Amino acid sequence: SQAASSLQQVSKPCADGENEYANMDWDNLGFGIMPADYMYTTKCSKDGSFEQGRLSRYGNVELSPSAGVLNYGQGLYEGTKAYRKEDGRLLLFRPDQNAIRMRMGADRLCMPCPSIDQFVDAVKGVALVNKRWVPPPGKGTLYIRPLLMGSGPVLGLAPAPEYTFLVYASPVGNYFKEGLAPLSVYIEEEFHRASRGGAGGVKSITNYAPVLKAIARAKSRGFSDVLYLDSVNKKYLEEVSSCNIFLVKDNVISTPAADGTILQGVTRRSVIEIARDHGYQVEERAIPVDELVDADEVFCTGTAVGVAPVGSITYQNRRVEYKIRAESVTQELYSTLEGIKTGLIEDKKAGSLRSNRA
Ligand code: COI
Repeated sequence: SQAASSLQQVSKPCADGENEYANMDWDNLGFGIMPADYMYTTKCSKDGSFEQGRLSRYGNVELSPSAGVLNYGQGLYEGTKAYRKEDGRLLLFRPDQNAIRMRMGADRLCMPCPSIDQFVDAVKGVALVNKRWVPPPGKGTLYIRPLLMGSGPVLGLAPAPEYTFLVYASPVGNYFKEGLAPLSVYIEEEFHRASRGGAGGVKSITNYAPVLKAIARAKSRGFSDVLYLDSVNKKYLEEVSSCNIFLVKDNVISTPAADGTILQGVTRRSVIEIARDHGYQVEERAIPVDELVDADEVFCTGTAVGVAPVGSITYQNRRVEYKIRAESVTQELYSTLEGIKTGLIEDKKAGSLRSNRA
């Protein structure tokens, strides 16, 4: 294909590369790393542009001990998925949106960024060359993880002199061990995920390690994940460690406004568009935590998570439970989005730049 041929492939597909599927237990995929055969890498200097990428076998990367990413966290990641259709073709879901978001993050973290074309070609190339790792339809997806990092050495606090853009992939099933069962979410009051003027609105790697402690605490008490409140008023909903959050009340769907502390999720944006197309009123605004009590439904969105119903939220030792109905707004949005991602419903909002087909 065009995407794969624009990449330099350095080694031949492995011996069993002709098999349609890798030797995997496709019925029991979780969200653990099971690296696909190939990864994509390209580098560039501080003021240069990224060279032509190369595909090589998945393996360790060599970094200077003083690499910017290791010392000062100068790094971004993305997440997108490839789906296998019944006819064997692969589909990507709006990878150009991830490319655009990486550009915003690169600007925030003073990094050069691959062009949108190069990003999308890399993602397509990784999907195609690892096709045998794309699960059978209905069993999961190939999660594709682009990384952009300051790989050159620095000692004083400054942008790194060299950058690496890398894309690897792993087949995945459901993100949460609960599978598709409703999540139990814990509202964290001690820790915050992001603060005004920080990097919470971009996919900086530095947004993730700081929430591990809160997640560990919540998981040890049986919760699925943690919902954070704003760090100024400690009153307004922000997001969950791994996903955005939505509330449904009658015909109105609300989600925290992405005004700097909220990650601009590709799934978040897609769900907002679908909901509006389906006649719901969607509000992006500040949502006081008290509103959770009156919500009809609550759900989370994210690339890894998908559209996941929330069954309960616990705040200050009080637990609010949500009735999970078969015909819910959450279910309607979930099935429409899944239909688009798997090619059953036409993606009218696919980037005009290029098709979603890998
Ligand atoms: C994604 O949804 O792709 C993410 O990056 C979340 C991550 C915690 C798995």
